[in-house]
Amino acid sequence: MQKTVVNSWNEWDPLKHVIVGRADDCHIPPEEPALDAKVPEDSDMRGQWGRRPQETIDRANELLDKFAAQLEARGVRVDRPNSIDHSRPVTTPDFHTDSQFGCMPPRDVLLTVGSEILEATMSYRCRWFEYLNYRPLMKQYWEEDPNFRHEAAPKPRLTDADYHPDYLSEKIGVEKRLQWAEEKFFVTTEEEPLFDAADVLRFGKDLVVQHGFTTNLKGIEWLRRHFPDHRVHTVNFPGDPYPIHIDATFTPLHPGLILNNPQRRLPKDQRALFERNGWEIVDAAQPAHNTPPPLCYSSVWLSMNVLVLDPKTVCVEKSEVYQAEQMDKLGMEVVEVDLRDAYAFGGGLHCCTADVYREGDCEDYFQ
Ligand code: ARG
Repeated sequence: MQKTVVNSWNEWDPLKHVIVGRADDCHIPPEEPALDAKVPEDSDMRGQWGRRPQETIDRANELLDKFAAQLEARGVRVDRPNSIDHSRPVTTPDFHTDSQFGCMPPRDVLLTVGSEILEATMSYRCRWFEYLNYRPLMKQYWEEDPNFRHEAAPKPRLTDADYHPDYLSEKIGVEKRLQWAEEKFFVTTEEEPLFDAADVLRFGKDLVVQHGFTTNLKGIEWLRRHFPDHRVHTVNFPGDPYPIHIDATFTPLHPGLILNNPQRRLPKDQRALFERNGWEIVDAAQPAHNTPPPLCYSSVWLSMNVLVLDPKTVCVEKSEVYQAEQMDKLGMEVVEVDLRDAYAFGGGLHCCTADVYREGDCEDYFQ
């Protein structure tokens, strides 16, 4: 029987099939330009690399397994990646890195648009081969679904020409970073198209893409040419000194409603698209924590990295009480998920998943 396996056009239609990452064999990779620019200057991760401690891997896997079971209990089909050996070094004709990253989080690598899953170029050397963790699943979908389009963006060369050397100094300071972000001067250059899938949000016919450390303007142009039936919009969030991945910054909940990180507000001119179409952009609630957990790349704003199950139901991390309260006030049913001890592996509930199937078609929400 032929059937549709892959179909997802936005971030909120009823979720029926999803990939949940695994913490197996995750590594803190050695220094490299784009990653260095992202690790906060006061982070406990600076200067160390290697396989993550086994007890943290086991704990994260326990939480990811439970999250997967929670989704399955709600009728969602859940698939898991097959971890490759991330301790293996990578050498291409253009670069070398002594280890890889992990099979978390899938949202960074896989971009689902309709019946297509696109493997992003990625912008870190340690994540160049990360798509291999998902290839067994892609192969399976390809065999099950005659309309599935499995695509891969051109692999980037990631030579030193891809990175601005200014970002490589030890201490830049947050002030300078904020100024650079305002000027749209990021660590990646315009040498070649670069993007991570988690810089893209899907609003039916419109794709909203963050220009920052992991996605450059050529990457956005590449997406525009690759999806000729879509409108592709570039957005910036000047309050973010480490702008990577849009999903702890800008979170659509359903047609007409978006949460925005109050420290990273979308600039006025970029709001026009949403405002003239009657979409409301509201400040997200404050995170419940003052600091991220140990060995974590992300900020405390993973509080707003929620996974929408359908336009009225949303998964919120269990300890994020203010975020849950806000969802309740916004009329959403909250599903609590314990995930904080897995944050260090690359993100929250939205990050650690990748859409395979949501009900619904490609709609046009904007004029
Ligand atoms: N840059 C975000 C922050 O630290 C984290 C985003 C994580 N998202 C992801 N898809 N990995 O606030």
